[in-house]
Amino acid sequence: MSVTKEFLQKIKDGQLVVGVIGLGYVGLPLAEAFAAQNVKVLGYDISQNRVDELNAGKSGMRHIADSKVAKMLQQGLFRATTNVADLREADALLIAVPTPLDKYHRPDLSYVISTCETIKDHLRRGQLVVLESTTYPGTTREVMQPILEKSGLIAGEDFNLAYSPEREDPGNPDFETATIPKVIGADNEGGRAMAKAVYDKIVKTVIVSNARTAEATKLVENIYRWINIAAVNEMKIIFEKMDIDIWEVIDAAKTKPFGFHAFYPGPGVGGHCIRIDPYYLTWKAREHGLATHFIELAGEVNTKMPRRIISRLLEEMSLRHQKALGGSKVLLCGLAYKKNIDDMRESPSLELIHILKEHGAHVSYYDPWIPQIPVTREHPELAGMESIEWTDAALKKFDAVVIATDHSNVAYEDLCKQIPLIIDTRNTLRDHHEKYGDKIVKA
Ligand SMILES: NC(=O)c1ccc[n+]([C@@H]2O[C@H](COP(=O)([O-])OP(=O)(O)OC[C@H]3O[C@@H](n4cnc5c(N)ncnc54)[C@H](O)[C@@H]3O)[C@@H](O)[C@H]2O)c1
Repeated sequence: MSVTKEFLQKIKDGQLVVGVIGLGYVGLPLAEAFAAQNVKVLGYDISQNRVDELNAGKSGMRHIADSKVAKMLQQGLFRATTNVADLREADALLIAVPTPLDKYHRPDLSYVISTCETIKDHLRRGQLVVLESTTYPGTTREVMQPILEKSGLIAGEDFNLAYSPEREDPGNPDFETATIPKVIGADNEGGRAMAKAVYDKIVKTVIVSNARTAEATKLVENIYRWINIAAVNEMKIIFEKMDIDIWEVIDAAKTKPFGFHAFYPGPGVGGHCIRIDPYYLTWKAREHGLATHFIELAGEVNTKMPRRIISRLLEEMSLRHQKALGGSKVLLCGLAYKKNIDDMRESPSLELIHILKEHGAHVSYYDPWIPQIPVTREHPELAGMESIEWTDAALKKFDAVVIATDHSNVAYEDLCKQIPLIIDTRNTLRDHHEKYGDKIVKA
């Protein structure tokens, strides 16, 4: 029997075992989705702490309830391990490891490469390997395949290889893994059939293509957001000068029932995806002697936003309160790169704190999701800072606050009552203008 037939038969018989490699923001929900369909999941991570935490029934992420992890452990449907040899038990290996940029803004595929180097020694005939991490077109075939074939097994004959980009939107209550259509790509019939059969278990709609198309699809989705956010950030600055409120404009424009999708301005762009992924294409395009003008231009606009917000704060403090930023006490409200999650990777809030400190301000932050700043790639000097306690007495001490993230579980009216100047980068206080409009600056 061919490897594909054997694999499909196993799924039919209800014996599929899935291995998830990298148990982070993407890997854990993926594991949960399979366990929820009664599929046995083996989670592999190089971090012993992460594995111990999960095996103790803790999700380690505030937007994912511990009870979900505890449930799959109790049902005997999930186990986490740092022992790569255990992965031989799995039929499908789904890889969700980080794909950051290096300090020169080039793709850093070291996690994907080291994962392939590790699993190749344990790869067995009949397995399916799927990369879920975001990357440039060609990674699956040009980077992963040669490493995995060092095992002596041949892709398309002894094992199959596919790419399926993750579309997780952490903290979004409207969508979960099952309801987000999944794109899968493989370069042979067998790979496509095996990958489709696996993902059919957990998602309602599966779209099938080749690996390069699937890789490019993910990049296009995020480039689309990157460019549109930059456009609206630029329009905000222009409209500010014309005394036009960008948020009102967007609210009006989005009443058009076709041809307009609302994007919102903010203090910059953060997260492990949108701020990074576009540059994967920039790098790959250079191989073909091509430039990605739109991506670079959007980058120029988006990365300037934090400085723009602080210069607005500076102007307002001096105009309204005849105060300089140096020596003033400033509160940064919201550290996560977007609302209602505890993820602060690449968050513009870190850059805002950094710039405020550069100007000599005394900066504190408040984030109900992030009690302490961990060590980050871009701003290791901020590690250890702790969120302030939310009391009237503590808030009263500040000369100004910058709202950088619009978390839902914050008593924003307290800010209005206690702090004389509020720079609101998200239009979070849209309902407070009537009462406190003289203190609030949309920026
Ligand atoms: N976070 C998101 O919202 C999101 C959404 C869509 C796509 N993605 C993409 O998914 C991928 C993973 O992102 P994430 O947010 O889950 O990252 P993460 O940092 O939350 O998790 C990655 C996990 O992989 C583990 N790991 C690192 N190297 C490993 C190795 N060699 N072997 C096994 N485990 C290893 C880490 O210990 C960590 O637990 C990235 O390519 C990212 O761009 C992320």
